[in-house]
Amino acid sequence: MKRKTTLAPIAAAIVFSFSVSTVYGFEPLVTPSVDDMVLYDDEENTQAEIDLGKTLFFDNRLSSNHKQNCATCHDPEKGFSDGMATGFGTEGNKLERNSPQLYNLGWSSIFMWDGREPTLESQALGPIQAAGEMNLPIPELLTRLNAVEGYRKLFKDVYEIDEITADAVGRAIAAFERSIIVDNTPFDQFLAGDKSAMSESAQRGLAVFSGKGNCAQCHDGANFTDDSFHNLGFGGDNHDKGRAAITGDVSQTGAFKTPGLRNIEFSAPYMHDGSIATLESVVDYYNRGGSGGEHTSDIIKPLQLTQVEQQDLVAFLKSLSQDITITVPKIPN
Ligand code: HEC
Ligand code: HEC
Repeated sequence: MKRKTTLAPIAAAIVFSFSVSTVYGFEPLVTPSVDDMVLYDDEENTQAEIDLGKTLFFDNRLSSNHKQNCATCHDPEKGFSDGMATGFGTEGNKLERNSPQLYNLGWSSIFMWDGREPTLESQALGPIQAAGEMNLPIPELLTRLNAVEGYRKLFKDVYEIDEITADAVGRAIAAFERSIIVDNTPFDQFLAGDKSAMSESAQRGLAVFSGKGNCAQCHDGANFTDDSFHNLGFGGDNHDKGRAAITGDVSQTGAFKTPGLRNIEFSAPYMHDGSIATLESVVDYYNRGGSGGEHTSDIIKPLQLTQVEQQDLVAFLKSLSQDITITVPKIPN
């Protein structure tokens, strides 16, 4: 399940730091190109469609008791996550997994920590109906939206439909999500030739990331993910089967999706269970070689990184950040 990656000309110029990538066949770390995005029906999203999706994303009408919208758990101010290890559903129940960030998902074709959703369109209808999340049956959602004249007009303008459908709701939300793009970070400026865009520490961190730290073995390509699943060896409470619950393959027990790392600085705490509070602790965890849980990936081993190398790695991860301003739209009546 590897997405296609076009080698931008720039990639050829930066092979110097990717000899490791070449040897093991990792995809080069490059700036994402919008030409490679996974689209619905190969159609580019219009601004009107994106705006409509954004409005839905922030509308409490999408939850049974009008208390939650998508941004409750995917808050742009908190790196499109919620700042909690695991958040709460609209009825106040505790969630089982960490709310993931939503940056650069337009390039992906596996969604959720266990990869059970193949498209952004299908994913979007999941949390609305999920009893543990927004808890709103689709017929009720459509009754609510169709009762709002402002929405009927917006959906008609964008999709030329008189009655709002679930399909159109999913498409609009997906269009907004595809517009959440991180492609001009200090790292991207560095790749484009501005050697002063990244600190010396971050530059050394890049070398650790693709070399001794072995991070790029899984976090590769334009969005720092191999779109695959690995078990990082979280011990202790091992009830979450992860990918194995979807595929039935026991060897994937406790394996979760490799998350992309763009803007990762903003969405602490980390991992599918939110069990690691900071980037420093994430690096420390990898450096120890995990905690030895059952089914740990063979790739996870003690790294013997020095203190400085660990700091450099964190500096590199922070060079993948770019501020994105989302203006909360006016919700129609
Ligand atoms: C109550 C909190 C909550 C709400 C509300 C919520 N989500 Fe999520 N979202 C989560 C959690 C938790 C996961 C991960 C669940 C899993 O992997 O099983 C997730 C996963 C996702 C993913 C997959 C990301 C990835 O990297 O695979 C997307 C996309 C997403 N949500 C979009 C939305 C949209 C769109 C809405 C509104 C329609 C929404 N979410 C509402 C908590 C929430
Ligand atoms: C074997 C593949 C693999 C390797 C090697 C690897 N990662 Fe990961 N990384 C993952 C997976 C899978 C997850 C999610 C695991 C989970 O939640 O159970 C993850 C999660 C993360 C997260 C948290 C992301 C989030 O949204 O919560 C960060 C940060 C991270 N890795 C950085 C690194 C760094 C830095 C290195 C090198 C020291 C590295 N990774 C090496 C596969 C890998």
